[in-house]
Amino acid sequence: MSFMQVIDLKVHYPIRGGFFNTIVDWVYAVDGIDMEFEQGKTYGLVGESGCGKSTTGKAIIGLEKITSGKILFEGEDVTRERRSRTSRFHREVQMIFQDSHSSLNPRKRIADILAEPIRNFLHLTPREESRKIGELLEIVGLPQDAKEKYPHEFSGGQKQRINIARALATHPKMIIADEPVSALDLSVQAQVLNFMKDVQREFGLTYLFISHDLGVVKHMCDTIFIMYKGRFVERGTKEDIYGNSKHLYTKRLLSSIPATTPVGREKRKRARKEFEKVYEKMIHKAFDQNGRVYDLIPVSDTHYVSAPSARELLEIGKESEMGGSR
Ligand SMILES: Nc1ncnc2c1ncn2[C@@H]1O[C@H](COP(=O)(O)OP(=O)(O)OP(=O)(O)O)[C@@H](O)[C@H]1O
Ligand SMILES: [Mg+2]
Repeated sequence: MSFMQVIDLKVHYPIRGGFFNTIVDWVYAVDGIDMEFEQGKTYGLVGESGCGKSTTGKAIIGLEKITSGKILFEGEDVTRERRSRTSRFHREVQMIFQDSHSSLNPRKRIADILAEPIRNFLHLTPREESRKIGELLEIVGLPQDAKEKYPHEFSGGQKQRINIARALATHPKMIIADEPVSALDLSVQAQVLNFMKDVQREFGLTYLFISHDLGVVKHMCDTIFIMYKGRFVERGTKEDIYGNSKHLYTKRLLSSIPATTPVGREKRKRARKEFEKVYEKMIHKAFDQNGRVYDLIPVSDTHYVSAPSARELLEIGKESEMGGSR
């Protein structure tokens, strides 16, 4: 059973211009998407730069105004309420961002940074608050003396742990993580991801994990949404997406996951070149005449693919197989 649903969400930004600064056009950053989330599961939202991933995350938690659509949380419509900083929804759904540094106020000690959400939502005595901050530091594996330090005294990975501690402070049900490890070194990325998994198990958290790289989310996600120009081109389980992808754009994202061995790298490079040719030739069929992504069509209970019709989906799929999906 899903505890949260996003229904036909749209976020359109006006582009202003001319002498009177009137609206001359619109950016359809998010243009009609549906999502459901179950407790304890991890969801991936993947697509290239500018496709609308961050806008989706920010719109869900209320940092961005929405043009239309609804957010349901535990059966209630929270579309309006989610904009209020003190609402229950705000406490239950937290977000962490790619840039671990700029999301921490450089002039505040870690104790004060962690105290902020606690003061907003939990009514604790100063002693209880201090104990709570100590617990949070322990959960994210930082020493107790971190309390008195400032953000610049920590590494990138440690700063991201502080962000995670802050997100956990209010006992949320869900964390939206917008490229949480993209700014970190590869070895630190793995550490932070593993750590996020441990925390998830301990607290039964739901994650919406935003990334431009299908490789990064592979081991994390139960369900993946592939986004292109503000809409979903495909959604499915890990197996559907990595083992049985149907949409050309998904296949292209898969083909750009780097190989880990030098031999594999050469092979992958050749396959990618071959695939690019098929992609260039076929991609126009995957969108309507205005370049808009078609609605999703179910392929199975879990797997949905955008296509003009089920028959055409089959045809595009067959032809693109020539280029190899991976
Ligand atoms: N405040 C804004 N006003 C106008 N356009 C915006 C605004 N914020 C985002 N956009 C546009 O909306 C689209 C989606 O942006 P968004 O930040 O959601 O992309 P993204 O998928 O998160 O990309 P990245 O991987 O680079 O972070 C882009 O075309 C962007 O230029
Ligand atoms: Mg983004």
